[in-house]
Formats: sequence, C-alpha cells, structure tokens
Amino acid sequence: MSTTSAGPRQPDVMEQWEDFVRSRYDPDKKKEDFRVYSDATPPGVREFYRLNHAQQTRDFVLSKKREYTPLNRKKMSVWEAMDQLEVIVDDSDPDTDLSQIAHNLQTAEACRRDGRERWFILSGLLHDLGKVLCLYGEPQWAVVGDTFPVGCAWSDRIVYPEFFAANPDSKVPEYQTELGVYSKYCGLDNVDLSWGHDEYLYHVTKAYLPEEALYMIRYHSCYPIHRENQYQYLMNEKDRKLFHWVREFNQYDLYSKSDKAPDVKALRPFYEDLVAEFLPDQLSW
Ligand SMILES: [Fe+2]
Ligand SMILES: [Fe+2]
Repeated sequence: MSTTSAGPRQPDVMEQWEDFVRSRYDPDKKKEDFRVYSDATPPGVREFYRLNHAQQTRDFVLSKKREYTPLNRKKMSVWEAMDQLEVIVDDSDPDTDLSQIAHNLQTAEACRRDGRERWFILSGLLHDLGKVLCLYGEPQWAVVGDTFPVGCAWSDRIVYPEFFAANPDSKVPEYQTELGVYSKYCGLDNVDLSWGHDEYLYHVTKAYLPEEALYMIRYHSCYPIHRENQYQYLMNEKDRKLFHWVREFNQYDLYSKSDKAPDVKALRPFYEDLVAEFLPDQLSW
C-alpha cells in the first residue's frame, strides 16, 4: 500500500493505476472479473505476492503475534483509526484505488442496504481497520493480501503458490506435511495464519463483538478457506458453522467497491451511534 502523502507515486504504480481505472470503468465488467490474478495482473501486485509468500514464515507470524497482540501500543478510537487509514491505498487489491475509509464505508453501506444485522454492518465498517499496521512501519506484505495457515503444507490453491519455493519454511520437513504442527480438526483458533490486518483487528475487537462478527473480521482475507474450501482438516465444527458468515461477508467486501466516494460527513452520525452501541470510546491497539 502507498501513503499518498509520501510524495508522487512511482511511475510503474501510476501506470498500474491507469490500468485499474480503465478496467473499473468497463461497463461490461462482470462479477467474475473482480479479483482476477493472471498474466494481466499488474507487476506491483505480483511482486507483492512474491514478497508475501517468501517471508510469511511460521517464525515471522509468531514474532508478530508476540509483538502486537498484547495491544500495548496505543489507545485510539475507531474514528482516529479511520482518519489514519485515509492516506492508505491498498496495492494488493487489483480492483480499487479508492481510499481505505471509502472502502470501509462502501462495504458497510452495502450491508446496510441489504438490511443486515447491526453487528454485521459494523463489521463492514471496521473490517480493514487493522491496516493501521502499515502506519507502524510494517511492510505491505505483512499487512494485506490473502492469508493462509503457516506451519503446515501450503495449498496449491493459494494465489501464486510457486512463490512459496523461496519461503524458508519450505526447507522444514515438519511444516511440509498436510497437518504440519497441528492435529486433525484442531480448530482454526489453534492455527496460525499468515500475519496481517485481519488477525490484528480480531485481537483489538474480540472483547466487544459477537462471534459471527469476529469470524468475519479474522478470516475475511482467508480466500484459501472461504473461497477455495482448502484446509478443512484443520477446521472444527464451530469453524464450519461460523464460516457461513465469512462467506456472507465476502460479497460485500469484494462487490461493494465503486468509484463514487461516499459522503463521509452525511454518513457519520449513523455510524457514530453504531460504533458507540458496541465499542468503548477508546480501543487498545
Ligand atoms: Fe481486508
Ligand atoms: Fe476490505
């Protein structure tokens, strides 16, 4: 992701952005055309996955959990986190260059239009707030992108599986069996996923939201499971039941994206009430 305040974009990224714009304005864009990773994928996105797959090792994930999950970094309201996200654009996402706050609001508004539960709408608003990680200096490959279990064999249904050859875990035999360090049907709560904004926000919000909402937040980037149905042998009964909500949520995350910026000022009172209904004024990050 780039911070737009950091000066002009690199030329290659600007080019990618123009391609994105052309593609977005294509009136024939079909539902299946969103989130297509192929030879047409911008080089920056491909490079992002190369870095992500090479460096998300089990040791890396465990060290990031030790570093961030004590939540002793700062106190911040949802709105302060939202303001911080205003400068971030997600380079891993081939479908949009809108600001993150716009994406959060568009997702929440799409949930609201469909008459979803209040906790569901709130999850739409919050789901990407964990991206404040990049403002703590984390590289984008440790903040965004599809997540996957570490410490066991990688599914070949993960996007760009060939990039895992450069991951040091590929040389650890214990991590290269189907179950790896886990036991069958152990439950995803006992499984470490590649580190990023999903897991971080889960820890920030877990004391306050219903379990369904927490699954949506914690696993929304786990395409290998919620889209590709991989890793069923690590999931327990509860995971299988609650992944229904992750799948329900994904359509709003992906298909609510539009180029029309939401009217933040007009929407704010509704969302202030909604946030206050579930969350304290200050959250620990
Ligand atoms: Fe996300
Ligand atoms: Fe999102």
